[in-house]
Amino acid sequence: MKKTLVIGALGQIGSELALALRNRFGVETVIASDVRAPQPGAASGDGPFQYLDCTSFRQIETVVRRHDVGTIFHLAAVLSAVAEQNPQASWDLNMGGLYRVLEVARECGCSLFFPSSIGAFGPTTPRDRTPQDTIQRPNTMYGVTKVAGELLCDYYVARFGVDARGLRLPGIISHVTPPGGGTTDFAVDIFHQAIRYRHYTCFLRHDTRLDMMYMPDTIDAILQLMAADPALLRHHNAFNVTAMNFTPEELAGEIRKHIPDFAIDYDVDPVRQAIADSWPRSVDDSEARAQWDWSPRYDIAAMTADMLKKLRAKPRTVSRFNR
Ligand code: SER
Repeated sequence: MKKTLVIGALGQIGSELALALRNRFGVETVIASDVRAPQPGAASGDGPFQYLDCTSFRQIETVVRRHDVGTIFHLAAVLSAVAEQNPQASWDLNMGGLYRVLEVARECGCSLFFPSSIGAFGPTTPRDRTPQDTIQRPNTMYGVTKVAGELLCDYYVARFGVDARGLRLPGIISHVTPPGGGTTDFAVDIFHQAIRYRHYTCFLRHDTRLDMMYMPDTIDAILQLMAADPALLRHHNAFNVTAMNFTPEELAGEIRKHIPDFAIDYDVDPVRQAIADSWPRSVDDSEARAQWDWSPRYDIAAMTADMLKKLRAKPRTVSRFNR
């Protein structure tokens, strides 16, 4: 049986995806890889691990050939807020990595999963019920790399027959591995701070509405899309998907149902606010629902209850967001 390679397996999505793949297909069938070494007890679980710099064609090709890899999940990327601090390095990693992964996929006959984002839209995109096919003129480096990535994947599908598939993910909420510097990170941070301090200072304005998704739905969406019958797919890449959308004020209200004295205030970061203001308030994911039966399980109430339950069950809530 061909193996699976997860690039960026120590990141927010990669760690839980690697574990889900191992649970489903067997520990030895999944090669986790990252540019860092895994810590004992890493969320991706025990199993084969490879150091891998995704901007090196040679390193990717070596791992793919050595382990007889048939499918690559390419999750290594710089997120939106960090990308604005160093746009040049973000282009190098986000585009350089994807291009080389696509080239290895072409040469070695691999399937590929590539996550795009709501960041692939921009200020001239319709912001409510954003259609699957619409104007995409992002004004962030993250968005530029995501829309270019979508196009590059489509090109490899059409030109070389590479089976490259992908989703436009919204903000992802998880209690396992923290996100790495995105505009939607507040929706994770708020839970850690609510449990520890019953107080959170949000870096986005109270009425900033964005799409979100709980991690279990994210993992299901990725695996479901990759297993979908290609004959039923009219798009390959960049499917709009969402599970809920809310403002920081609404999320705080939901948390208050469990922690009545929880308080939120605001200290708006103009950089991240400008990024959020350029993104959709809600996307239309009807194409994903029609083409491969996308259907999320968690809304804001179910997600909030589960996040608080899972974080409270941890010995000590560790937040890297303290400021
Ligand atoms: N969560 C991502 C970010 O905020 C969006 O794809 O950068």
